[in-house]
Amino acid sequence: MASSFDAVNSACGDWTPSEVLGSAKLVGVTGEHGAERPGSWEYYDRRAVEGTRTISHALAYWKGLGVQATAADIEAEAAEVRRLIRSMQPSTFVEVGAGPGTFTADLPGSGVALDQSDAVLRVLRSGSASSPVVRGDALRLPIRDRAVARVFAAHIYGLLTEEERGTFVREARRIAEELVVVDAGRPPGVPAEHWQHRTLGGGEIFRVFRRHFDAVALAAEIDGRPRFSGRFYVMVTA
Ligand SMILES: C[S@@+](CC[C@H](N)C(=O)[O-])C[C@H]1O[C@@H](n2cnc3c(N)ncnc32)[C@H](O)[C@@H]1O
Repeated sequence: MASSFDAVNSACGDWTPSEVLGSAKLVGVTGEHGAERPGSWEYYDRRAVEGTRTISHALAYWKGLGVQATAADIEAEAAEVRRLIRSMQPSTFVEVGAGPGTFTADLPGSGVALDQSDAVLRVLRSGSASSPVVRGDALRLPIRDRAVARVFAAHIYGLLTEEERGTFVREARRIAEELVVVDAGRPPGVPAEHWQHRTLGGGEIFRVFRRHFDAVALAAEIDGRPRFSGRFYVMVTA
């Protein structure tokens, strides 16, 4: 039976998710696992329809945490991270927690963009990235063992609780040889982890778990090595 994602993916060319998917059925994030859907999932799903996140959102985020920063400071680090991503060896990949495609078009090689949110994947497909999209859970990746060379995960590892992150790393290692994590840095004064309250346009408040990283500590945690160690961004390959 055709899923709505057949339509979303129809312009993807020859390389299709069926080459890497573990089963024909996508993980039913709003179906059989719907009861487990965390509030943060709904937050990201709903946020997608509020428009693209920009450097000014990032600046507001850091200022909200009491960090002295300018848009130029953040932009300079984002540009360096993007340069490092583009300079990686081209490979097959699954991008987990791809969101609206912040880094998807920068990933060298060919792969699939995965997210739990229907809305963000539709935004992703309307942008410049040509990757097919798959809706699924990072903790139960609907991907075959050793299906791709690389898992790329930007700003999702830091959303996972201790138990979840172990599961995520095991899943990444099951499907790929390499795991690349990009996430939030930890400027002085910012907590290593805490629950945040996020408000959307309609005034509704969501609770989101968030970590902020020192690149060396993150590398030790996932048995990798730091590639970028900034105030606002870190990048580790494992
Ligand atoms: C902070 S956004 C990051 C988006 C993009 N990668 C970036 O760096 O801007 C986190 C994304 O991860 C997705 N996400 C969170 N938990 C997930 C899970 N368990 N499985 C799949 N996607 C998840 C959310 O829907 C959201 O799109």
